[in-house]
Amino acid sequence: MALDSGPVKRSRYVAVCGASDPDPEQRELAREVGRRLAEAGAVVLCGGLGGVMEAAAEGASGAGGTVVGILPGADRASGNAHLTIAIATGLGEARNAVLANAADAMVAVGGGWGTLSEIALACRRGRPVVSLAGWELESQGGQAPPSGTPPPSGTPGAPAAHPSGSEASVRRRREDRLRHSAERVLPAAPSLSGANRVMAGRSDDGAWTGRAPGRVNLIGEHVDYLGGLVLPAAVDRFTTVTGAPAERWSLVSEVPDGLPYAHAIGHELGAPAQAMRATSDVPPGAGLSSSAALLVAVAAGLRPDLDGASAALACQRAEQRATGVQVGVMDQFASALGRCGRLVPFPDDLVIAVIDSGVHRSLADTPYNQRRREAERGMPKRLRHVESELERVRAFAAALEAGERDRLGELLKASHRSLRDDFEVSTPAVDALVERAWAVPGCLGARIMGAGFGGSILALLDAGTEAGFARALEDVAVRFCRTADGAYVR
Ligand code: GLA
Repeated sequence: MALDSGPVKRSRYVAVCGASDPDPEQRELAREVGRRLAEAGAVVLCGGLGGVMEAAAEGASGAGGTVVGILPGADRASGNAHLTIAIATGLGEARNAVLANAADAMVAVGGGWGTLSEIALACRRGRPVVSLAGWELESQGGQAPPSGTPPPSGTPGAPAAHPSGSEASVRRRREDRLRHSAERVLPAAPSLSGANRVMAGRSDDGAWTGRAPGRVNLIGEHVDYLGGLVLPAAVDRFTTVTGAPAERWSLVSEVPDGLPYAHAIGHELGAPAQAMRATSDVPPGAGLSSSAALLVAVAAGLRPDLDGASAALACQRAEQRATGVQVGVMDQFASALGRCGRLVPFPDDLVIAVIDSGVHRSLADTPYNQRRREAERGMPKRLRHVESELERVRAFAAALEAGERDRLGELLKASHRSLRDDFEVSTPAVDALVERAWAVPGCLGARIMGAGFGGSILALLDAGTEAGFARALEDVAVRFCRTADGAYVR
């Protein structure tokens, strides 16, 4: 049974199921899921009763969304107070099948055997399933369990055993692929980390969603295209792109000039024309690599099955093709594969600030290619920057490990001087801002970040000094960022 049939243009229906007696955290999570689904324009389906069902309904209806309750009983009045429509099926637990069939995707929050039955039914229908704070299904490698298969041995919240051997790697690959298609269902999902686990397939109407973060670069500037070591981080600003096959390429976006990028990555990936829509809180031209976030979001939407490195390389080629600028792969790599505090420990009490110099430029209008050529040809001044910067990257990573905060600041300052004097990618306005940042109490150090020629400045601050820092630089835009996971992080 489905709530509608045929290729009618309509909202996504997303089922939210889970524990009838959730703990406060699960209840809050369900409310947030409902709210975000409604904000994303989805219709929320649920079992109509209490617990997670009620919390999700409350979140969705509070955000002005439509909530359909598919009740087990024959009495409509048994539905919770937040339903827009209550359907009294009189089917008892068999209504779980109606819920799974009617939805385009499912989000499970916690839950026991009843929830597992809903997950399994949705899996069998090939629906993407996101499991938050609850079931981890691995015994079937993320595939829909064949009928008659006993349920997995894991208990809610406990990790299931990993299968072994080559079968295991096939399963894991499939699981990774499925996880990404599932993540696309909930572009703005609350944390999917920790014990949360995602499984299952993709919706079958060709529509997709991809989401990718912007990036900062802690240190290692203008060395990536020479094969040098860099230390970027994905940050908590994201671009989300939805798309579906269409007659010609198009992009509706609040970010200007994105179509050539989106088209170029589509072309790299061999995708047919797509009609796309992008939303983003990665400010364009401000040094957080809005272009990489857009490229990687499209790649993650069109090809979630790719490994992150191949996706990043395809995005780099696409950017080079779209702009004619011979960029390195740092930005795309960070957006695809940045790992929140996992490669180098990033202390909680250190804050990343990004200062927008206000000079927004397209890299194609800067001497980026020229600098790259000069470095490749071994021009002494340029090489002096490259060699000293590479030493600074290593020293910076060591200082992070050792918790030597003053050293971090010194290295940032030295990097700025080198970019200013030897690589000559700074501007007097940026230099003045960097020096103002250096003088603010709590600022360990600051430097021009990214390609340069305007753009943005990175500063590291002692946590707790953000307000003073923002006040001292109140005439310019300052953004405080946290590290995040890249779009292809499993
Ligand atoms: C831009 C490029 C990167 C890198 C930086 C400078 O952000 O896209 O590949 O070269 O400039 O470090």
